[in-house]
Amino acid sequence: MCGILGILGKAPVAPLLLDGLKRLEYRGYDSAGMASLVNGRIERRRAEGKLSNLARLLEKEPLPGTVGIGHTRWATHGRPTERNAHPHSSDRVSVVHNGIIENFRELKTELEAAGQVFETETDTEAVVHLIDHHLAQQMSPQEAVGAALQRLEGAFALAIVFAGRHDLMIGARRGSPLAVGFGDGEMYLGSDALGLAPLTDRICYLEEGDWAVLTEDGARIFDNQNAAVERPVTQTALSGALIGKGQYRHFMQKEIFEQPAVVGDTLQVFVNPQSRAVTLPDLPIDFAKVPRLTVAACGTAYYAGMVAKYWFEQIARLPVELDIASEFRYREAPLPDGGAALFISQSGETIDTLAALRYARSQDQTILSVVNQPESVIARESDAVLPTLAGPEIGVASTKAFTTQLTVLACLTIAAAKARGAIDAAREAELSAALTEVPARCAELLNHDEAIQAIAHDLAEARDVLYLGRGAMFPMALEGALKLKEISYIHAEGYAAGEMKHGPIALIDETVPVIVMAPSGPLFDKTVGNLSEVSARGGQVILITDPRGAERAGEHAAHVIEVPEVDPLVAPLLYAIPAQLLAYHTAVVKGTDVDQPRNLAKSVTVE
Ligand code: F6R
Repeated sequence: MCGILGILGKAPVAPLLLDGLKRLEYRGYDSAGMASLVNGRIERRRAEGKLSNLARLLEKEPLPGTVGIGHTRWATHGRPTERNAHPHSSDRVSVVHNGIIENFRELKTELEAAGQVFETETDTEAVVHLIDHHLAQQMSPQEAVGAALQRLEGAFALAIVFAGRHDLMIGARRGSPLAVGFGDGEMYLGSDALGLAPLTDRICYLEEGDWAVLTEDGARIFDNQNAAVERPVTQTALSGALIGKGQYRHFMQKEIFEQPAVVGDTLQVFVNPQSRAVTLPDLPIDFAKVPRLTVAACGTAYYAGMVAKYWFEQIARLPVELDIASEFRYREAPLPDGGAALFISQSGETIDTLAALRYARSQDQTILSVVNQPESVIARESDAVLPTLAGPEIGVASTKAFTTQLTVLACLTIAAAKARGAIDAAREAELSAALTEVPARCAELLNHDEAIQAIAHDLAEARDVLYLGRGAMFPMALEGALKLKEISYIHAEGYAAGEMKHGPIALIDETVPVIVMAPSGPLFDKTVGNLSEVSARGGQVILITDPRGAERAGEHAAHVIEVPEVDPLVAPLLYAIPAQLLAYHTAVVKGTDVDQPRNLAKSVTVE
């Protein structure tokens, strides 16, 4: 939530900040702003709404200067107005912030009593006045920030510039991510490597509690005890080119179509195509001895975990306790001795998932994570990381991150099943072979894009949509409903098909499309029974199934979307794709902002 950027440079800073903020806009897009030093004075430009509004403002009112900070906001405290947009400034200091200052009310009361005048509804302004107050007492900028950091509670990444100090910028992080970039006689701060990609590929990720004093010669880094520390500088492989939309209209569409490639890339890490054996990195746990696996994540990543629960339990005979991370972190669940906990996150910075991880750590669990950002805090705090190779996911609705998470989790299931003696080498080879077929089957499915687009025209008329599935298709129904509601704003719910009769069937009439996800297999007839109950009550069924399923139940459905018939293990990977395309095309028909849906942001770094 919120992207921040700082440039201590030599060239005009406004165009560079704007370019970097475009790459960070996925983090928040309800207002944006920047500040620079002009003849030593702090000047700002801020605009409500998308970054394009700020760009237009800068055309009318250019912002000179070579040292500056920029921000793209996802509002937490204070409405998304120009006044509440960052940077927040006094005459002496200007600040951009990602996170929440939890004790801002207390600080505000104290600082107002000391004569500071507040102008906005934001928590961030307390940081400005706190530093300003110390500067007014003749502290140096470094002393002022050091003292202010001692007082702040909550989560933050900050980039700070000071009037009259073209040679200085300070960054700090606790909870929220922040990286320092090293240029040629220039220095940078950014929420992530993507924002810094056009500026530099030499990056140092600050550790929890670190703060960094940047001058044109480099960075001095201090830990939360104010002791000077060294942090490694790494070379990132990200380039500016990676984040283009290419031939596609939206990032989400591009990312859906990238799935055959990125699932294939991910499989290459985990499956040996010759021996058909799953090859995991050295894990600090022995699956044969683990009594239970705890899994926690948020949103789409949680649904990936829910699919994995079916897999781990059925295939590996490993009991799984699954929880939404925001619940798990406060639930104080007892965890077994010698247990392992698995956290799933595209960004690797979701605050609830991180807090859940830390709880599991406090209970002596071995921590595994499935993450897409290998440098993220969740990755760094894990005992072992199983990376997804989805590449940068820019569309706010998760697509390729989800299917690569499923890919890794399927591999982990096979490895656990093997270790626990639940499958033999022949079954391992069969399951691995099914997995290696997935990229080709995904590519086949993407050929149905036009047919799905036609169905989406009907769906776009609906006010409510239900998704049904059984077994591992139940979490897929939940994920399908989440995709539709978040980008098309149509109310959608996923249900376990067997639950329909226990209440939700009351919702069915001829205005409610019902999307049934049902591969042929042991649960098929039961799901078809539920499907018939829906169609008998006038519900418009859209059936997603394989050719055998279509033959047996197609007559009950208004539309059938055919998915290749595959081993049940890999079916969720394929069924994700029509659900994504249905949501995508429905949103396009409705004319919503597909890549940046209202009220959402890509990384949720606040509670
Ligand atoms: C939905 C979506 C979110 C994320 C959730 C977790 O399309 O993208 O539900 O899945 O916010 O994010 P990560 O995976 O970054 O922890």
